[in-house]
Amino acid sequence: MAGLSVPTLDDLLAEGVSGRGVLVRSDLNVPLDDDGNITDPGRIVASVPTLKELSDAGAKVVVTAHLGRPKGGPDPKYSLKPVAAALAEKLGRHVQLAADVVGPDALARAEGLTDGDILLLENIRFDPRETSKEDAERLALAKQLAELVGDDGAFVSDGFGVVHRKQASVYDVAKLLPHYAGWLVAAEIAVLEQLTTSTERPYAVVLGGSKVSDKLAVIESLATKADSLVIGGGMCFTFLAAHGLSVGSSLLQTEMIDTCKKLMDTYGDVIHLPVDIVVADEFAADSPAQVVPADQIPEDKIGLDIGPGSVKRFSALLSNAKTIFWNGPMGVFEFAAFAAGTKGVAEAIIAATAKGAFSVVGGGDSAAAVRLLGLPEDGFSHISTGGGASLEYLEGKTLPGIEVLST
Ligand code: 3PG
Ligand code: MG
Repeated sequence: MAGLSVPTLDDLLAEGVSGRGVLVRSDLNVPLDDDGNITDPGRIVASVPTLKELSDAGAKVVVTAHLGRPKGGPDPKYSLKPVAAALAEKLGRHVQLAADVVGPDALARAEGLTDGDILLLENIRFDPRETSKEDAERLALAKQLAELVGDDGAFVSDGFGVVHRKQASVYDVAKLLPHYAGWLVAAEIAVLEQLTTSTERPYAVVLGGSKVSDKLAVIESLATKADSLVIGGGMCFTFLAAHGLSVGSSLLQTEMIDTCKKLMDTYGDVIHLPVDIVVADEFAADSPAQVVPADQIPEDKIGLDIGPGSVKRFSALLSNAKTIFWNGPMGVFEFAAFAAGTKGVAEAIIAATAKGAFSVVGGGDSAAAVRLLGLPEDGFSHISTGGGASLEYLEGKTLPGIEVLST
C-alpha cells in the first residue's frame, strides 16, 4: 500500500470545525477483567489527542467504538460504560454515553450537543448491521450514523485497530461524509510505512501468540523480508511438532503441522524456534513450573513459556538488529511464573532500540504485555494500537478503512 495520501485531521481543522458535527471512529476496545475493570487503557490514551483537538476546536464530537464481539444485540457485559468513564478521565472533560447506538437516546443527545461537547455512542456492535456481510445493511447503519452529525458533518477515522475491518462505522460511513484520517491512524500508517519501505538491516521479527493459522500469512510474507524470524508463544509448539518433537499437552494445531514443515523446509535459515520451554502440570498461575529442553517436553506437561536458554539466543539475534517488529507474547505473561520469556525478549528489544534500532510493537496483546510487565513504553520506537491491522498491513493486504479514505 502506498503512503497515506489522504486528507487528515489537519485538513479538517484548516477547513474549520467550530459548531460542526464530527463523527469519530475510535478503537476503544480495551481488555477488561472479570469485574469489568480496564486492565490496559492503552487504546483509550492513544485516542485522546484527536478527540481533544476536535473538542478544543469547537466541534460537536460524536464518537463511535466497539468493545469485544457481542453477538446479535445489546449485552450489558459489553457496554462502553467503563470506557466512557476512563475516556472522560483521560480527556479531562465530560463524556456523555448514549444508551443506544443510533436509537432515540443517541439522536436526542446528538441534537442537544453544543460546541466542544463529546458524545460516545453505545457499543456499535450492539447493532448487527455493523459487521454485516450485506452491503445494504451496513450502509443503512452508516446513514443513521451520518445523520447524527447533520448536513455539514464530517467523519474522522481514528480507530487504527479496526481499519482492516470492512464495517459500517469504519468503511461505509466514509462513503457518506467528507472523511479524514485522525492523528492516530496517520501516525500508525507512517510507522508501518517506514518499517516496510526504509527497512535497515538486519531486520528481526519476533512472533508469538497462540495460533499458527492466525499468523500464517504474515510468517509467509515476512520470512522473505526479514533476516531472522523468531517464533515463541503457543504457536511454537506446532513448529516443534513439525520437527517431530513431542509437545506434551501444549497448545497444538495438528492441521497446521504440514504447513509448518514446509515453512521450515523453505525458511529454515530464517526461522528460529525456542531451545527450551517452561512447562507446568496444568494451565494455572500456581502450577509448579520447570524448564526442560525443547526436545524433552514430558507427555503429561504443558508448555506455558519459552525458557531462559531461548531468551538468551533470541536476545543475541536481536542485539545487532537495526529494525525489529514484535507481535505476540512468548508465553502466558498474565501468570507471573510464565512471564519471563515475554519480558526477556521485550528487554532485548529495548536494549537494541537504545543502540539505535527502529522497533515496533504491533498489537493488543504485546502492547498490553509491555505495560502490564512494567516495561518502559518509551523503550520502543513505536507501540501500535492495532494487532490485526498492523499484521495485515505487513502482509501487503489492502486495509478497507484506509483505502476508503482515498476515494
Ligand atoms: C482488536 O482488538 O484487534 C480490534 O479492536 C479489532 O477487534 P476485532 O478483532 O474484534 O474486529
Ligand atoms: Mg473522498
